[in-house]
Amino acid sequence: MKVEIISIFPRMFDETFHSGMIGQAIKKNLMVIKALDLRDFTNDKHRTVDDRPFGGGQGMVLKAGPLFRAVEFCREEEQTSPHIVLLSPQGCRFDQAKAKELSLKARLILICGRYEGIDQRVADHLTDEEISIGDYVLSGGELAAAVVVDAVSRLIPGVVGRSESVLEESFMDGLLDYPHYTRPAEFRGWRAPDVLLSGDHEQIREWRRRQALLQTRCRRPDLLTSATTNSEEKEDESG
Ligand code: ADE
Repeated sequence: MKVEIISIFPRMFDETFHSGMIGQAIKKNLMVIKALDLRDFTNDKHRTVDDRPFGGGQGMVLKAGPLFRAVEFCREEEQTSPHIVLLSPQGCRFDQAKAKELSLKARLILICGRYEGIDQRVADHLTDEEISIGDYVLSGGELAAAVVVDAVSRLIPGVVGRSESVLEESFMDGLLDYPHYTRPAEFRGWRAPDVLLSGDHEQIREWRRRQALLQTRCRRPDLLTSATTNSEEKEDESG
């Protein structure tokens, strides 16, 4: 997968993508990630990317021109048609299902908003969708883009070592994850659940499913209706 990120702070991504799992994915050629400086697509000597809002009001608005030119530059570089995402608090909420959907794209362009807003013509005529990572306002889309790239990249085959660990974890079946334990079996008087040490895989599977349901019911009941419906449908399909 190729990801191009358009931002006025492209250096924010230097460390984020060069260490850890994403760094490995880049080394293995499973991913190419490029951060482009929006100011390189301006055409005045001050490299202006923003201007005052029409109609008045506080703050500055990111101009449409540099963003359109940056995307056109990316488009000209390569044949594969990109899926273009604008990161903003006005977007649809990012979740694991959206991460899965984006992981199937060959090429993504992520546009990071800044300041008080972005010229609406960017959202209306340049991008395929607008995504928010949560109901809070960040100072810009850069951290949101990093979150999206991280969640998406680990779903690309080969990026995470054992593909089962991605399939089993939180949200893949719409539930929170079950609790995990490792050695020692007893730590400062707290014992790991005996069932996990029993070697009985059927019991372990059942315990984990029950724990996942309990955690979800307690912490995120909003997830529960769709998760149980989905897994019941899967069980029906498999007969
Ligand atoms: N830019 C500012 N806040 C954001 C958010 N919550 N999600 C995505 N992009 C943003």
